[in-house]
This record gives sequence, C-alpha cells and structure tokens, in this order.
Amino acid sequence: MYTTELGKPDAKAPVAIGGEDPALVAAFEARVAADEFIEPKDWMPEAYRRTLVRQISQHAHSEIVGMLPEGNWLTRAPSLRRKAVLLAKVQDEGGHGLYLYCAAETLGTSRDEMIDALHSGKAKYSTIFNYPTLTWADIGAIGWLVDGAAIMNQVPLQRTSYGPYARAMVRVCKEESFHQRQGYEIMMALAGGTPDQKAMAQDALNRWWWPSIMMFGPPDDNSPNSAQSMRWRIKRDTNDELRQKFVDVTVPQAEYIGLTVPDPDLVWNADKGGYDFGAIDWEEFYAVVRGEGPVAKERMKARRDAWDEGAWVREAASAYEATRAARRAA
Ligand SMILES: [Fe+2]
Ligand SMILES: [Fe+2]
Repeated sequence: MYTTELGKPDAKAPVAIGGEDPALVAAFEARVAADEFIEPKDWMPEAYRRTLVRQISQHAHSEIVGMLPEGNWLTRAPSLRRKAVLLAKVQDEGGHGLYLYCAAETLGTSRDEMIDALHSGKAKYSTIFNYPTLTWADIGAIGWLVDGAAIMNQVPLQRTSYGPYARAMVRVCKEESFHQRQGYEIMMALAGGTPDQKAMAQDALNRWWWPSIMMFGPPDDNSPNSAQSMRWRIKRDTNDELRQKFVDVTVPQAEYIGLTVPDPDLVWNADKGGYDFGAIDWEEFYAVVRGEGPVAKERMKARRDAWDEGAWVREAASAYEATRAARRAA
C-alpha cells in the first residue's frame, strides 16, 4: 500500500526538467491522456521516470519490510491452519516486492541501488510497518486494515500509465484480496470469542485504525506531487478520495463483528453518502516518516541482517548461473 504516502512533500522530487524536446513531451502526454500504457523502451520525461522509480521502489521496499511485523508471529500462530495461512500471506508479500523491484529495474535502476537506498535509510517505505505487532489480534488487524488500505490504493494502479507497474498490480491485487479476508476472518473469530479475545481484537483495532488511514498519505491540499502524478496518470485517485472510500467500506465491517472504530467524531453524513471522521494526527505521521516509529530501528536492523545472512545464497545462485552459462557455451 503503500504508495500514496509518496505524495508527501519532497524537496528533491522534480516536477519538470527543462531541456526536453517539447514535441516528445507533447506526444508522451497525448499517449498518457489517451490511456495508453508507457513501456520501458518508450521515450518518457526524466521527471516521470524518476517519480516512477521512487514510487515503485518504495512500494517494493514496503512489501519486503511488511513481511517483518507478521513474520514475528509465524512461530506463534494459534493453530496449524493459521500458521499455514500466515506463511502463505507473508510469502506473497515477498513475491510482491520482487515483482516490483523487477518493474523498477525496467526504468534503468539496478536492484543493488534500490536495496542500498533502503538499507542506508535513504529510501522510505510505508510508515505503517514501523508499528509493533503486540498480540495475535494485530495479525488480524493488519490483514483487515493494512492490506485493506493497500487494496484501495492498488486497485486503481492496475490502470497506472506505466505498463510494467500496472501489470504487476493485477496479480498483486488478487493476492491482496486473500490477505484482507484472512485478516478479517481472524478478527471475526476473536470478536465472536471469549470476552478476553474480543477485548484483544478491539485493542488491535484501536491501535491500527489511525495508522491505517494515514497510509493514504497527507491530505490533498498538502500533497504537492499529487497533481503532476494525476496528470501523468501515475496516480488515478487522490489521497483523500481513497481514504474516504476506505473508511466507508471498513466502518460497516467493524460494526458487523461488534467492534467499535476508535473515533468519537465518526458519523454518517447522508448528504455526501459517506462518513465524516475525526482529525488525523499528522505530527505523528511525519514523525514516523522521519524514522521515529516505535520499531523503525528494529525493522532496518532486521533487513540489514537478513541481507548479510543471505549473501551466501546470492553468491551460490550467481555461481550456479555462471556454471550453467559456461556449459551452454561449451
Ligand atoms: Fe503485498
Ligand atoms: Fe498483502
């Protein structure tokens, strides 16, 4: 989900770069306006390329870092069935990261550069993964809310203007639906269980609700890159539109299983056909973006350790490929 957070203020983000052939720019913009996909070998403005590299690589990082909070619970899942389901889900997220790194590589950036940017702290990933998973109910809340928010973000990206990104999203979205349902099913079981189990589910909803609606990124009037991204059809809906949709579908789901969304200002607004909701604490959001999330350091350490410990696997795979290539040549 991960992607509209990228609309946050970023001084380095280019809006337009001078010196490009106006005829090429006009032809490019006409293709985008006609809803054609832009493919890797097509001419594209440099700012479009950079915006996409940033967005797709941050999306990829979010998928990979997103494995960590749930990976914490694989050994503690309450039954073999839950363990098998969670294992499949976490593995899917790894796959999403890999499709997305491949899509970003088609724009001329290497996997190593992207991984370096993540490990050095230069690249961002979704702030939601810097919150800890304290109880089993958090695994339910993540699937239901975090994957649910990711779906809201990613369904429109199946029509994003860059072909490889759009196609990666088609498969990712199918898998995200399964993730959302497995999370909701965990919440449903807990909410219908003992009073302690129900309290655990409510506590998880209380802690994950606000970070989840922050996943859609800053409000539209404070999202400077959004207008250009909408024009280039990298983004298809604004942050606030997506957030509103998410709140509107999720509140009835909470009510259906007897849980309460932790927002005293939440009220149905018949005129707009949607919920009005309370003010979001953007200070908290920007603090987490700056890396001050409760477990941000732990997450990055886990990533770097995994990278170092996996060095022998990468070396073995390269050596195997070299041997095969030599054999083919012979
Ligand atoms: Fe995913
Ligand atoms: Fe997911």
